[in-house]
Amino acid sequence: MLRIKNGWCILGEKPILQGITTEFKDEAITALIGPSGGGKSTLLKCLSGVLPLDTGEVRSHTDSISLLFQEGALFDSISVIDNVAFPLVQGRVPVATLPKSERTFVEEKCLKILERVGLKEAINKLPGQLSGGMRRRASLARALVTEPEILLLDDPTAGLDPVASSVIMQLIVDVYNEYKPTTIICSHDLRRLLPISEYVLALSDGHIVYDGKRTELGNKAKPELHHFVSCRYDWT
Ligand SMILES: Nc1ncnc2c1ncn2[C@@H]1O[C@H](COP(=O)(O)OP(=O)(O)O)[C@@H](O)[C@H]1O
Ligand SMILES: [Mg+2]
Repeated sequence: MLRIKNGWCILGEKPILQGITTEFKDEAITALIGPSGGGKSTLLKCLSGVLPLDTGEVRSHTDSISLLFQEGALFDSISVIDNVAFPLVQGRVPVATLPKSERTFVEEKCLKILERVGLKEAINKLPGQLSGGMRRRASLARALVTEPEILLLDDPTAGLDPVASSVIMQLIVDVYNEYKPTTIICSHDLRRLLPISEYVLALSDGHIVYDGKRTELGNKAKPELHHFVSCRYDWT
């Protein structure tokens, strides 16, 4: 269970989230869509707890929540494996300095997910030595390594070429099918995102303009959203 009730978030002087109330469907993929600047990234940060609400509340049945930040946000000065291990060991990296018993466990977990995202050969590299697609896969590995019950993904394919974007989206779908984390994905790439999403939450100007099943979006969405979606998504 993940819900937000009357959530307001004010950054600077500006109200970014303006009274958001919704409950996300357990074990489903929800697409978080809407015009740029509408508050999507802010909502994901508030749901994950990295940014507090000014008023209202976020409730969740679990602390097992991961957020993949827009642009990935890897730590540039530590290796790929240490980046991925970071949430597992609450930042006590490098992994090589952990006590032996813990180190083995952590390395196994990291290697498993890094192999999964195709980065087994790159574990000792620094993020700056990787391509954009590889960096994003490393960020995804970091978000997935704890096997979170709630997975929040902020534009996981932003800035990537079509091939790298497809690889990332396929990885997300595969992981989702494997253990069904409650997944919320924000993306500009509606042609890739909407087909894999059962539910849609659309934000515009800090307000919810659609909250429901993806299959009903075409009929029920407010005109402003319809315009936004139909520009970028072929319904046929
Ligand atoms: N730290 C901040 N301080 C002030 N304004 C911010 C900050 N972060 C985001 N904003 C503003 O909040 C609005 C919503 O941003 P964001 O949540 O990133 O939207 P989206 O992800 O939908 O594009 C934008 O107008 C943005 O300029
Ligand atoms: Mg954003």
